[in-house]
Amino acid sequence: MNTRALDLPDDGRTPPASGLLEIVQRGLRAQPKRLPSWLFYDAQGSALFERICDQPEYYLTRCEIALMQAHAASIADQLGPDVRLVEYGSGSATKTRQLLEHMVSPVSYVPVEISPGPLQQSVRRLGERFPQLPVQPLCADFTRPLRLPIPPRAPRRTVVYFPGSTIGNFAAREAVTLLRKMRGEMGENGGILIGVDLKKDTALIEAAYNDAAGVTAAFTLNMLARLNRELGSDFDLGGFGHRAHYNALAGRIETSLVSQRAQKARIGRTSVAFGEGEAIRVEISCKYSPEDFAALAAKAGLEVLRVWLDPQRMFSVQYLARAGSAGH
Ligand code: AVI
Repeated sequence: MNTRALDLPDDGRTPPASGLLEIVQRGLRAQPKRLPSWLFYDAQGSALFERICDQPEYYLTRCEIALMQAHAASIADQLGPDVRLVEYGSGSATKTRQLLEHMVSPVSYVPVEISPGPLQQSVRRLGERFPQLPVQPLCADFTRPLRLPIPPRAPRRTVVYFPGSTIGNFAAREAVTLLRKMRGEMGENGGILIGVDLKKDTALIEAAYNDAAGVTAAFTLNMLARLNRELGSDFDLGGFGHRAHYNALAGRIETSLVSQRAQKARIGRTSVAFGEGEAIRVEISCKYSPEDFAALAAKAGLEVLRVWLDPQRMFSVQYLARAGSAGH
């Protein structure tokens, strides 16, 4: 493994802990109330998310891994040799490994992750399997401009890898902004390899966010548990429920924490009142048709060059390049 691999540079843009209280108070003052979905991912939330990925109803991870398994060679072929692979989010080792197994002489692997723990874990996992691969981790928020580490040799192309359909957790305008930022970071000749969940039967989508074992409900409620732990707030965890509903018109799952009764919670010096049935919006998970996603990509100056689909057309892995660019 590259000896620099465990030296995690911090780009200094991670939100300060003191900002949390203000973010939460502002979100709960808004109408309707909302909290940002990145609040899910403390250590407990990240562990619960891993468990969600194993639930039988959560088809996304299974389908994406199967897709990578079936098409890794053709995906690697599309990327070409001597690629610098920049992964947004620490990702599941499985998908990244499947890709790297087939890539020809990759220049470096740059996992970008805001939490140092998962980042170090992904560095370790990949380092064990690919001891010759230079790994250049970046501890940073991938939604902000990144200062990518200098690669060990000149890459033929930089490819931003964004698996998991995490793009679906951004509303259209933010998704375009994020895609445009990737477009800048990958440069003229670069590409984006992205996992995108597809529109399908409502019941299948809703089941994925309402698993029978209640893991997704625990994941959603952990957000309030986290606030109690970190801010000393006094949310009654039994007083809120998880709701995930597919809004077919908007093409997205809308997840909320719903107050089961009229109640108050103290957050810092303020007290927030909740009516019975009042919702705090905590996440959206957008679903796209291939045409929808191509239109979104076009708004960011990107063109979809290849789409890989599973036989049931549940999920897609797509390769994007700058619109009208040559050399692909
Ligand atoms: C990370 N992201 C793509 C997941 C999703 O499907 O929107 C997060 C998640 N929320 C509930 N279940 C999974």
